[in-house]
Amino acid sequence: MKKRPNLLITGGAGYIGSHAVKEARKYGFQPITYDSLLMGHRWAVRDGVFVKGDLSNRAKLVQVFRKYKPAAVMHFASHLSVGESVANPQKYYRDNIGNALNLFSVMLEQKVNYFILSSTAAVYGNPVKVPMPENHPKNPINPYGDSKYILERILAWYDQAYGLKSTYLRYFNASGADVSGELGEDHHPEIHLIPLVLDAAAGLRKEITVFGTDYPTPDGTCIRDYIHVTDLAEAHFLALKRMMKTGKSDFFNLGTGKGYSVQQVIWMTEKVTGLKVPAKIGPRRPGDPPSLVAQSKKAQKVLGWKPKYSKLETILETAWRWHQKLHSGLKKKPV
Ligand SMILES: NC(=O)c1ccc[n+]([C@@H]2O[C@H](COP(=O)([O-])OP(=O)(O)OC[C@H]3O[C@@H](n4cnc5c(N)ncnc54)[C@H](O)[C@@H]3O)[C@@H](O)[C@H]2O)c1
Repeated sequence: MKKRPNLLITGGAGYIGSHAVKEARKYGFQPITYDSLLMGHRWAVRDGVFVKGDLSNRAKLVQVFRKYKPAAVMHFASHLSVGESVANPQKYYRDNIGNALNLFSVMLEQKVNYFILSSTAAVYGNPVKVPMPENHPKNPINPYGDSKYILERILAWYDQAYGLKSTYLRYFNASGADVSGELGEDHHPEIHLIPLVLDAAAGLRKEITVFGTDYPTPDGTCIRDYIHVTDLAEAHFLALKRMMKTGKSDFFNLGTGKGYSVQQVIWMTEKVTGLKVPAKIGPRRPGDPPSLVAQSKKAQKVLGWKPKYSKLETILETAWRWHQKLHSGLKKKPV
């Protein structure tokens, strides 16, 4: 039987990376997770090989590349808190860029030519047009988004100079959980709306704060584009397969093209859980645009990507199922 090519997945023990690890086999790859467990969890790596290591450790990376000879790299490992990046930009530029440069240098040395970058809608900054197409102006308004935009530009130059092919995937709001209930979000501290709203519904936090109800949106609260994490993971493999076939770099938005307000997320949570979500109104947060919605046609047309689980109701149903499992003491079960 033909051996499946190895795929190095950095951050494969994290939220999105672990869903990609789980999907890898379906697309003919053997996942090799490389993760420091700074934020991720060993139990979340459900397939393939796990190596505990930090991307700053170049010698260890070289060892892993020599041993597993990956055909390509999917790079999820980074810091991702917008607020923290504003307070501590050094951490974001040093790690998000420095570690990726380390990885690129090992890829070049070991002649691994295909790279998928977890990028973000935060590369666009404040929208001048909604939905936002891929050619929307890039004006990141925080060091997190800037660090990803810098990586995109580095990769464009590396393609030109060294032939390193890359696809950058600009995610909107990753959400939901594995449909079979094996995986889901478990961030400490949690910074994302849906798990926080579920915590409030379940009584694990007193309430959820709605930051601003006076935005120019139908109900006054911010609108975001929620994309299911399994749909996101699938797009990575479609993008990788295509890049390996065409030998061309590319970039895509990953969103649904439909936005939901914070208030709609709260209402849908109440419907799905049958529980009341205690909420209080707070002031707007600096740097929160009223609406962030992807124009998502390119990925659908070029990659043939069709989000299957990204209806808000499905996102909340899967997230709620995972939330109940996570908080019933099951999460630490070994794989
Ligand atoms: N979650 C979202 O909504 C969202 C939106 C847009 C983009 N992204 C991007 O997607 C990627 C994954 O996000 P996530 O929500 O899964 O994050 P996560 O924190 O759950 O996962 C990141 C993983 O990387 C690991 N890691 C961090 N630094 C490392 C290092 N130096 N060496 C080795 N491993 C390291 C962590 O331990 C963790 O397991 C990030 O690059 C993020 O910027 C996420």
